[in-house]
Amino acid sequence: MLKSYYIETYGCQMNVADSELVESILQKEGFQKSDNLDSADAIFVNTCSIRDHAEEKVNSQLGRYDQIKQKNPSVIIGVLGCMAQSLKHNLLENKPYVDIILGPDSYRRLPELLNRKIMKKENLVDTKLSRFEVYDDLFPSRKEGINAWISIMRGCDKFCTFCIVPFTRGRERSRSIESILAEASKAVEDGYSEITLLGQNVNSYHYQGIKFHELLQEVSSIAGIERIRFTSPHPQDITNELLLTIANNSNICNYIHLPLQSGSNRILKRMNRTYTREHFILLAKNIRKIIPDVGISTDIIVGFPGESEFDFQETLDLMEEVKFDSAFNFKYSQRRGTKAIEYDDQIDESLKQKRLERVITLQKQHTLKRNLNLIGTNQLVMVEKESKRSPKQWAGRTDSNKWVIFDKDDINIKDLVQIQINRVSGITLHGTKIKQAEAA
Ligand code: SAH
Ligand code: SF4
Ligand code: F3S
Repeated sequence: MLKSYYIETYGCQMNVADSELVESILQKEGFQKSDNLDSADAIFVNTCSIRDHAEEKVNSQLGRYDQIKQKNPSVIIGVLGCMAQSLKHNLLENKPYVDIILGPDSYRRLPELLNRKIMKKENLVDTKLSRFEVYDDLFPSRKEGINAWISIMRGCDKFCTFCIVPFTRGRERSRSIESILAEASKAVEDGYSEITLLGQNVNSYHYQGIKFHELLQEVSSIAGIERIRFTSPHPQDITNELLLTIANNSNICNYIHLPLQSGSNRILKRMNRTYTREHFILLAKNIRKIIPDVGISTDIIVGFPGESEFDFQETLDLMEEVKFDSAFNFKYSQRRGTKAIEYDDQIDESLKQKRLERVITLQKQHTLKRNLNLIGTNQLVMVEKESKRSPKQWAGRTDSNKWVIFDKDDINIKDLVQIQINRVSGITLHGTKIKQAEAA
């Protein structure tokens, strides 16, 4: 009888949340979690295909599993998630040691496939994508911590020409508001103080006429939720109602991830991003007007096919104009099945690398500038974990999603404390707790 499983997760927060679902399915079937890769009866890896590099990391890990299987042939190896979905033929042909391949909509079949695998020898695959929400009534098995991830929608219909997600995750579908609210209430009962609503395009949420900002308002009203975050929104679906809902509810964090990708209209069009640089700049200004202390982060891709020096400069100029609080910067990576892989004006790797470095350097300056503005201010910080640098200090995030380090004193994890910011190092802020009397 199979007993223990080990699970490893790559990729975005949706995968983290999906792994928690998988764990809940396995535990209901009587499987126990193991922290030891070498002694587990079954090993699962939840995979990501977003860039070549993400797949390389999983492939090298799969090499390790192969060695474990050579020593212990009875161990079962399962590949889940986006690579399972988009590379199943390759896995079947080239990695015979993989026993089970399950795409993101097929995790409910895991116990059945595990049991079948124990009886028979053949490899088992299920990568059917659904048009409907498939995990509505299933709650995840969460780990410790202060934040509970809650998936509210799956899939993506936007088809940006660089992106593999519409192919790995399938069509967009939203979960019922009732089950989201029930899961959020349960998370509060279980002691979580922060909720992060998740979706590939979280703000495209719509369920029986209910829009994203209305859902957010409902979640915000659940007693005991101290903080609500959400990721990842698409600029096209950011409405004034959404901004007002964030501004009017103190437990909805003042933070928006606003993925830009490129500052050039020509490239944005080729990417099928559906907005212009002018619209994006206005949107960022509007966000800062409606939510005054908001933090704005972004994603930028450099070296998209056909990106000229002029196009790239447009991205740098837009960064100068908006001054993001932080940015995730990527070199364009060719993805199978996407439209952009067919463009014949691909950019040299060395040029991509140079542009990436220029974007990173500029963003560092902007992050520093934005953070220096906070020196002397008081920030409401939720204590999340011990600082990596010192066991005498805590690390927590501001409402606007910036990390702050401060002395532990009499403060506990999950406390919401007022911290006066007095120093900045890189992306991190340092501060001291304001005494109750001073804070009042
Ligand atoms: N749905 C979100 C993004 C999900 S993917 C959105 O539309 O904003 C996360 C980020 O990965 C993207 O914002 C993009 O910057 C990056 N990314 C996606 N495909 C990529 C590719 N082929 N090469 C490089 N970066 C990519
Ligand atoms: Fe990918 Fe675009 Fe969909 Fe985001 S909106 S997941 S970048 S296709
Ligand atoms: Fe990766 Fe799939 Fe998420 S490709 S980023 S794990 S949706």
